[in-house]
Amino acid sequence: MIMVTGASGALGSLIAAKLAASGREVVAGTRRPTGSARRVDFDAPDSLAEAFGGVDVLVAVSAGFAEDDVVIARHRAVVEAAANAGVRQVVYTSLTGAGEHMSIAPAHRATERLLAAAPFAVTVLRNGLYAELLSQAAEQAVATGVLTLPLGGGKVAAAAREDLAEAAARVAVEADAQVDNAHRGRVYELVGSEALGGEDLASALSAEHGKEIAYAPLSLGDFRAALTAAGLPPFQVAHTVSVFANVNAGFMGGTESDLPGLLAGAPRRAIDVL
Ligand SMILES: NC(=O)c1ccc[n+]([C@@H]2O[C@H](COP(=O)([O-])OP(=O)(O)OC[C@H]3O[C@@H](n4cnc5c(N)ncnc54)[C@H](OP(=O)(O)O)[C@@H]3O)[C@@H](O)[C@H]2O)c1
Repeated sequence: MIMVTGASGALGSLIAAKLAASGREVVAGTRRPTGSARRVDFDAPDSLAEAFGGVDVLVAVSAGFAEDDVVIARHRAVVEAAANAGVRQVVYTSLTGAGEHMSIAPAHRATERLLAAAPFAVTVLRNGLYAELLSQAAEQAVATGVLTLPLGGGKVAAAAREDLAEAAARVAVEADAQVDNAHRGRVYELVGSEALGGEDLASALSAEHGKEIAYAPLSLGDFRAALTAAGLPPFQVAHTVSVFANVNAGFMGGTESDLPGLLAGAPRRAIDVL
């Protein structure tokens, strides 16, 4: 049986939908279950052993929106409970190696270490940035003619959530079926196939919508001020600025990726996602 956690989240719900279509036995894990879903709350470690009962392959979607100590405690609870419940393989959604300098990296790498020391097989999916993170700015650009994003002169090889979900579901299904499970012990780099900067995005949106759209880079300082003014908690302001600081610094444009090899078709283009 396969379980996916975070099943009502944006990525988890896509993975759950793809798993449901696979014909395998699948159960959704979520903090607020309905129907056949099970309650899975990483902040309630004592409940996890029961939640993971009978699960062969666990797709553990990172539960990242918290301070690092909270995130690491959550993920440690998952690893311990999965070991105690006899889970055979854990598939963890981590962070691309290109994001090594981001402030969210320590919690992901600490989780990878915990997984590496666990008694079950592991597959690490090092996900790149979601193309969807740029959607709101793209929508505003179409409305106003100005694409305001804190990318500086940097580019990002963003991936569609849909593709990341397809890859996760494929790995889980093949791990569950145990037919030539080549995914055991693998660390996959899953970034998009195309690096796009602000100018690239603006001209693609211009062509798509038949109107002039200009790129106006937002400074990291103004971005931080806007996030703070919007009421985001301090850790989230810091992490979000750090993500875009890494784009500015030119670290996120690499397109070498294991994603095409895990998809049935070509990767979705970030510009099409937008
Ligand atoms: N690659 C990227 O660009 C990127 C961007 C943002 C975040 N992320 C990471 O990727 C994860 C999935 O992204 P997403 O877009 O699907 O985020 P999302 O829509 O916010 O979903 C995150 C899900 O995590 C689950 N969760 C939160 N706290 C939990 C807890 N204490 N115990 C168990 N599950 C918990 C929740 O699922 P339920 O509601 O079903 O319980 C929540 O819906 C995020 O949590 C974050 O770690 C990646």
